[in-house]
Amino acid sequence: MEIPPTQKTTAAVDSVLEAIGDTPLVRLPLDFDDQPRCEIFLKLEYLNPSGSVKDRIALAMVRGAEARGELKPGGRIVECTSGNTGAGLCVVAACLGYAITLVIPDKMSQEKIAVLRALGADVVVTPANVTIEDPMHYTKVAERIAAETPGGWWPNQYHNRDNTQSHYEGTGQEIWNQCQGKIDAFVAGAGTGGTLSGIGQALKEKNPSVQIIGVDPPGSILADYWKTGELIEPGPYAVEGVGEEEIPGAWDASLIDDYLIIKDGESFRMARKLAKKTGIFAGGSSGMNLVAALQVARTLPADACVVTLMPDSGRAYLSKVYSDGWMKDAGYLPRVSAKTAILGDLLREKEQCAVRPEDTLAWAVRQAGERGIRPLPIADGTTLLGVLDEHAAAAHLSEGKDLTQFSVQACMTDAPPVLSLQDPWKDASTLFQTHEVLLIRTEDGWTSLHLQDWLRALPRLDHSA
Ligand SMILES: Cc1ncc(COP(=O)(O)O)c(C=O)c1O
Repeated sequence: MEIPPTQKTTAAVDSVLEAIGDTPLVRLPLDFDDQPRCEIFLKLEYLNPSGSVKDRIALAMVRGAEARGELKPGGRIVECTSGNTGAGLCVVAACLGYAITLVIPDKMSQEKIAVLRALGADVVVTPANVTIEDPMHYTKVAERIAAETPGGWWPNQYHNRDNTQSHYEGTGQEIWNQCQGKIDAFVAGAGTGGTLSGIGQALKEKNPSVQIIGVDPPGSILADYWKTGELIEPGPYAVEGVGEEEIPGAWDASLIDDYLIIKDGESFRMARKLAKKTGIFAGGSSGMNLVAALQVARTLPADACVVTLMPDSGRAYLSKVYSDGWMKDAGYLPRVSAKTAILGDLLREKEQCAVRPEDTLAWAVRQAGERGIRPLPIADGTTLLGVLDEHAAAAHLSEGKDLTQFSVQACMTDAPPVLSLQDPWKDASTLFQTHEVLLIRTEDGWTSLHLQDWLRALPRLDHSA
C-alpha cells in the first residue's frame, strides 16, 4: 500500500519540551452552523505534549524560576492546579529532573487526577467548595507545602509574569503569523488570565483595532468585575479551567474590549457538536470559547476573521462532558417529562450481563466484579432463575474452596423485583420503598438499577409540566 506523504516534516528533537507550541490554527467549516457569519479559526492548544495550552506556561515559569535562582537542581515544584498546569509542570519536571507535588480541587475530573499521578506527581486533593480564605483552599495548601518543603518552589501561576509572557512571546505571535496579520477579534476565557492577556497584548501591539473578547461562565467574578468594577459573590459552575473567584494578577482588564457569559450546558453541547462534526476533540472550555466566538462572528462583516482557542483535549472529560449519563443527570441534555418518562430514560449506560446456571462460580464472581451488574442475573435463555448470592460466594472463598469446582447454582438466591425498560419510571418508586436494587429487563438481557443511581438520575426528568 502506498503511504501518502505527510504535509510537513519536522526535524527530530532532543526532548518533548521542544514539541511545545507551534500548534495548528484550523478553519471552522462555514457549514458548521446555519447562521451567516465570518470566518472562525481555532488554535488547537490541546495538541501540546500533555494535552493543553498550559505546557507553554509550565516551561516558561520553570525556566524563569531557574534563571532567578528560585528553583535549584534537586528542588520540588509545588503548584495548585485545576489539572492542566499540573500536567504541563509534570512534563517539564520529568524532562528537567525535578520532583513535583500538585494540589487539585476535588471537582476536577478523575481522568485529570489519574494523568497527574501517571506523570509522576504526588497529588493532594482538597475540597472545591471552600472560600479562598479557607486554609484548605487549594492555593493556600500549595503555598504552605512549598514553604515547608526544603527546595520547594511555588510557581503561583495566577500571579506569575512568566505565564503571561509565554503567551505574549509565543501563542500571540504564532496567531498573528498564522493569520498573516488578518485578524479582527480574539475570543477566549480566562482562568489565570495569562492566555487572554498575553495574546491580547501581542495582538494589540501589532494592530490596536483587534478586539479582545473575554468569556466567562456565570458564577465567575471576572466578567462582572470587568463590566462594573464590582466584586460579586462567586457562584458554582461546572466548566473546568476558566472563571475565577478572585482577580488574578495575570488578568489585565485594560486589554479587554467586551466580556461574554456562556452557560455550562451551552458550552458542553458545543464541545460535543464540534467533536462530532469536525473531529476536533476538545474540552468544555473550548466549547465555551466557540459559543462566544460564533456570537462575535455573527456581528462582524463577512470578510472578518475571528480566532479562538481550544485549551485542552476532550479526553480529559470522557466521564463528564462526553458521558451521556453525566450530561443527562446534570440537566445539560433535554429533560424528559416526568409524566411520560419510562425507566429507560433513567438508566445509565451499563453493560448487560447474565450467567447460565451451568457456568462456574469462579466465572460468575468475575462477571459480577468486572461488569458491575449486581446482583448478577442467572438465566436459562430468557428465563430468569435467580441471582448470584455474593455473601455465599464470599463464604466459599473464606473457607478456601476452589470456585472453579462449583457451578453458580451453589450460590444462587432469589432475584429482586424485575421491571422492564418500557415501564413507567414511577413503578420503581413504589418498589424502592422496600428494595435497594431492582433488575431491569432490557431487549437482550438484564441490568441492575440501584436506588442510589435512580436518585442520581431524577434531575433528568422535567417535573414541572
Ligand atoms: C481547560 C482550560 N481552559 C482555559 C484555561 C484558561 O487559561 P488561563 O489560565 O491562561 O486564563 C485553562 C486554564 O487553566 C484551562 O485549564
